[in-house]
Order: sequence, then structure tokens, then C-alpha cells
Amino acid sequence: MTEVNIENEIVLYNADCLQTLKKLEDNSVDLVLTDPPYNLGNFMRDRQTNLKKMRDNFFGDAGWDDLGNEEWKDSMDILFKEISRVLKKKGSVIMFMSLIRVETIVELAARHKFYYKTTGIWHKKNPMPRNMNLHFINSTEGWLYFINDGKTGTYNNEGKVIHDFIETSVTPGSEKKFGSHPTQKPEALFEHFIDLLTNENDTVLDPFMGSGTAGVVAKRRGRNFIGCELESDYYEGALKRITSEQKSLVLNNSSGVN
Ligand SMILES: C[S@@+](CC[C@H](N)C(=O)[O-])C[C@H]1O[C@@H](n2cnc3c(N)ncnc32)[C@H](O)[C@@H]1O
Repeated sequence: MTEVNIENEIVLYNADCLQTLKKLEDNSVDLVLTDPPYNLGNFMRDRQTNLKKMRDNFFGDAGWDDLGNEEWKDSMDILFKEISRVLKKKGSVIMFMSLIRVETIVELAARHKFYYKTTGIWHKKNPMPRNMNLHFINSTEGWLYFINDGKTGTYNNEGKVIHDFIETSVTPGSEKKFGSHPTQKPEALFEHFIDLLTNENDTVLDPFMGSGTAGVVAKRRGRNFIGCELESDYYEGALKRITSEQKSLVLNNSSGVN
């Protein structure tokens, strides 16, 4: 396991999060913002889609979403157990998830006494129109919102109505300078949740950080970040990306620009 700790504001682990979470302190995190494997790798391969041929970086072939159903459920069960311990009372969870797996996640979260708040939709405005004459274009993913040990947590809506639907473009190339990740989330999407559900100096945890999107946004918004990633290539990319954000923040601040 590799661990990098930058002034306790950013702590990154190249390791299995199910092991690493056990080392984190109780009541130390304000928001878990994460995008775990959706348990779709085998499902998509079994359906013999031709996606792989059409897409160099098809995530179903990346190797990190290949658990059997029961094994995946067990891993999510351990995840909820650990995040219920590390989250503060009334801390929030936003978990992205395939819509066909939402019910399983709601059940697992309830087992660990999370209070269910919302199932929302992320709509991608410009997905690749693969097989557009054969079926509906896949342009949505789900997200779930839970509260730990309480019913309401930080919710900075400032009197505005916030819908359970968020729309962005797919991740732009400008956010992929440090390497390509097949399911990299756009920064604007994570910014929406970090602004709404945390305050400055709070701590955000992403146990499945991939390319480090949650870390980049957390840093930019003045939050601390703990991230974990199993694959060394993604971890190295995330480390470079997040530390580059940290450096540009320091440079910006010293030149008086925010
Ligand atoms: C859906 S991707 C996350 C993408 C990320 N939100 C981004 O914007 O780049 C899930 C990531 O979890 C990682 N992963 C899978 N199992 C893991 C585990 N047990 N511990 C840590 N990371 C894991 C995968 O390697 C993959 O990069």
C-alpha cells in the first residue's frame, strides 16, 4: 500500500478501500462522495454487446468491475459498515449507481442504519450516440443520497429549490490531462454535491477515486480530501492531478487571484 499525506489536507491511498477504511478514524468525515463499481462488467459481457468493438476504453473490460453478484453485494456491505463508522453524525453519502442496482444499495444502506433521502438522476447532455438506430442512447446514471445517524445534514441550498436531477456535459478532454479513466466523472457534477453538502474545511472521502475527480474539486472548494484507488495507474494519475490542483491553488493565492 502507498500512502501520501499532504499536510493532513489530502491523504491518498493506493490500496483496497475495504481494508484501508478500517484504518480511518471514527467520526472523521463529513461527506462520502463516490462512484463505486456498478457490478455491470459480467452483466454486459454476458449480453454480448458489441460495445467493446466500438469503444477503446470500454469499462466492462477494465477488470475492476468483475465481481460476481454476491461478492459485489458483500463488498458494498463492508463499505457501508465502514463508512457508517468514519462518517460524523449527520454526515452525508452521495453514491453514484447504475439504476438497475439502486434497490440493492438502498437495502444495504438500511442494514447499516443510513437514513435514505433521495434517488436522483445525472443526465449527460452529449453521450456518444452508439447504435442510435437500434435503441435508446444511454445518457443517465443514478445517484443515491443518505444521511448517517440522523435525518438531515448540511444542505447549503440558500433558499433555492434543488431538483433531484442534474445535467452536465460528459467529462471534457481538458479534465483528462493526467490520464484517461473510462468512467471519469465531470468536475461540475461533483462540485454540485460538494458545495451543497459540505462547508469549507470539511472532509470529503472517496473510497473509489479513479482519476481523482472528487479530490480535485474538494481541494478547489477548500475542503480536505481522503481518497483511495486500487489500480496503480489510476492512482498515479489521480495523485498528479490532485497535487497539480493544489499547486495551482497555492500559485493563484500568492498572486492574489482566487
Ligand atoms: C467508477 S470508477 C471511479 C471514477 C471516478 N469517480 C472518477 O471521476 O475518475 C471506480 C474506481 O474504483 C476502483 N476500485 C475498484 N475496486 C476498488 C477497491 N476495492 N478499492 C479501491 N478502489 C477500487 C477502480 O479501479 C476504479 O478506478
